[in-house]
Amino acid sequence: MIVLGIESSCDETGVALVEAVGTQVPRLRAHALHSQVEMHQAYGGVVPELASRDHIRRVLPLASQVLAEAGSSLREVDVVAYTRGPGLAGALLVGAGVACALGAALGKPVLGVHHLEGHLLSPFLSSDPPAFPFIALLVSGGHTQLMQVDGVGRYTLLGETIDDAAGEAFDKSAKLLGLGYPGGPALSRLAQSGDPAAFKLPRPLLHSGDLDFSFAGLKTAVLTQANKLGAGLEARKADLAAATEAAIVDVLVKKSLAALDRSGLQRIVVAGGVGANRLLRSQLDTACGRRGVRVHYPELALCTDNGAMIALAAAMRLQAGVQEATTAYAFDVKPRWPLDALAA
Ligand code: KG4
Ligand code: ZN
Repeated sequence: MIVLGIESSCDETGVALVEAVGTQVPRLRAHALHSQVEMHQAYGGVVPELASRDHIRRVLPLASQVLAEAGSSLREVDVVAYTRGPGLAGALLVGAGVACALGAALGKPVLGVHHLEGHLLSPFLSSDPPAFPFIALLVSGGHTQLMQVDGVGRYTLLGETIDDAAGEAFDKSAKLLGLGYPGGPALSRLAQSGDPAAFKLPRPLLHSGDLDFSFAGLKTAVLTQANKLGAGLEARKADLAAATEAAIVDVLVKKSLAALDRSGLQRIVVAGGVGANRLLRSQLDTACGRRGVRVHYPELALCTDNGAMIALAAAMRLQAGVQEATTAYAFDVKPRWPLDALAA
């Protein structure tokens, strides 16, 4: 079974071809990505209308590129998968519209995928794929969630952010420090030359006894520190960046360990853009190594949004028999869509 996957939920157009044989873990044949980061940089964040228009420009050339790289053709595609939600409505409609048009033209069925399920399953494309069940720490620009994953489509929400997402905390703090958009990677780079102990920043809900997160207070604390420093900020920017990164990572690691303790599981998967963060990876590896817990990450290139995870999630849902592809080409999208609302 060959699945063509299209991702267009936010500011990355991703297309990929995945092949699934029997019940084996699907294999990535080729993927291509166009990031709109440069286009949105001038505005300090994603401009939805510009995002939609750019997806329209990029999606078909990317599809041709992927098919050429895989040495395949549209005729070989069995299912066209697309991101159905959550995300920007107009951006989602581009991927859904193209997928449904391709499906209708080829006489092949389509399948709408949950973006976060794509992130969550993306480590299955790595050289060290996980096995069910596991805990998943989903840390993206819009979501911070801990889930128990018992199988494809069997997701139980254990805790989530009550305000900002971890990626948002990175991005907003970076913006306050004048580091541009998207701030996560920039803040993390600057933090490498700073002292994380130089500032005491809050770790909200660290001892709340549940698995929820709150990051909104952190940006206020960063702003307060920045204001206090005034003209002296420039010289202390790396220290403040390091303290911010340390605060975010500390909470993510401690809550992940708490989720592992509660569930009794010995395996954790980290997915979503913030999963690319080096400090998070090293601290989680160390803490889990001590407890004999296995940690799985997607390949670095597949941490942030991409088409491979969408094609993969579709293939795995079909293999597990939890969803059928459809020839009812009604490309409805779900800009808001909780992952645990996915029916198994
Ligand atoms: O999963 P993703 O690509 O898009 C969403 O679905 O939201 O995640 C994007 C988020 C952004 O907030 C970005 O700043 C953050 O991931 N990010 C990072 C790093 N790379 C990406 N945050 C911290 N450190 C990084 N290395
Ligand atoms: Zn994402």
